[in-house]
Amino acid sequence: MRLLVLLTCLLAACLAEKPHPCASPPLLSGALTVSTQNEKLWTYARYLYDALGHRVRLLELGTYQNKSFTYDALLLYREAAMYEIHAHNRTCQKKPLKVEFHPMAVPKDASLLGQAVLGSSSGPGQGLLVNTWTGDLPDKSGKYMTTVTEFGCIPVSTAYHTKEFGWVVTSFFNNVIGVEDPDLLNPPSYCSDAEIKEEEPADFLSLFMNKN
Ligand SMILES: *[C@@H]1O[C@H](CO)[C@@H](O)[C@H](O)[C@H]1NC(C)=O
Ligand SMILES: *[C@@H]1O[C@H](CO)[C@@H](O)[C@H](O)[C@H]1NC(C)=O
Repeated sequence: MRLLVLLTCLLAACLAEKPHPCASPPLLSGALTVSTQNEKLWTYARYLYDALGHRVRLLELGTYQNKSFTYDALLLYREAAMYEIHAHNRTCQKKPLKVEFHPMAVPKDASLLGQAVLGSSSGPGQGLLVNTWTGDLPDKSGKYMTTVTEFGCIPVSTAYHTKEFGWVVTSFFNNVIGVEDPDLLNPPSYCSDAEIKEEEPADFLSLFMNKN
């Protein structure tokens, strides 16, 4: 009985400790959805994330302006290049990527909105302990909100406001630590002769919009 009390105290003390901003694991893969308040864009994507090599792969399926699209992109931030990959006809388009790599992390100056259990705390396996943080976007154009798990700093959701879309909400799920197929983070062999087109540099949100 005494042990149980002790354990409960330990657990309570542990949960009572104030959460700190954290960085997500450097290698992650899983799935995400992005949706916008004005309903222009909805997309489901498989993602692979490599914060050591500054590489991201997105394999998307979505709708933009009521039209469905598929989109496959490899972002190589160190080379400031991205590849749009058309696996079905084995072609690629290489484009400049003029944005910095941002590791998935809660910014150090974020403020804690609160800690909560997603699901239920009534039984084992029913709930997920998360922390929600908020702060100003880097360009001060508005606020963001980001939720990560208390244990492991795994991304759960992020939301931020843009003029074009209203709130843009990204939800992460089926995340696993590591990248099972690292080949997907290198350009396919048939991309080697892709030439860079100096037209439209890509920013992050435009990766979710294929206007074809
Ligand atoms: C998408 O479809 C809905 C329902 O048919 C319509 O109300 C809406 O205006 C359409 N949006 C666009 C951007 O075409
Ligand atoms: C390959 O497919 C993409 C996307 O469907 C298309 O834009 C491109 O023109 C195709 N390339 C060739 C050489 O057929």
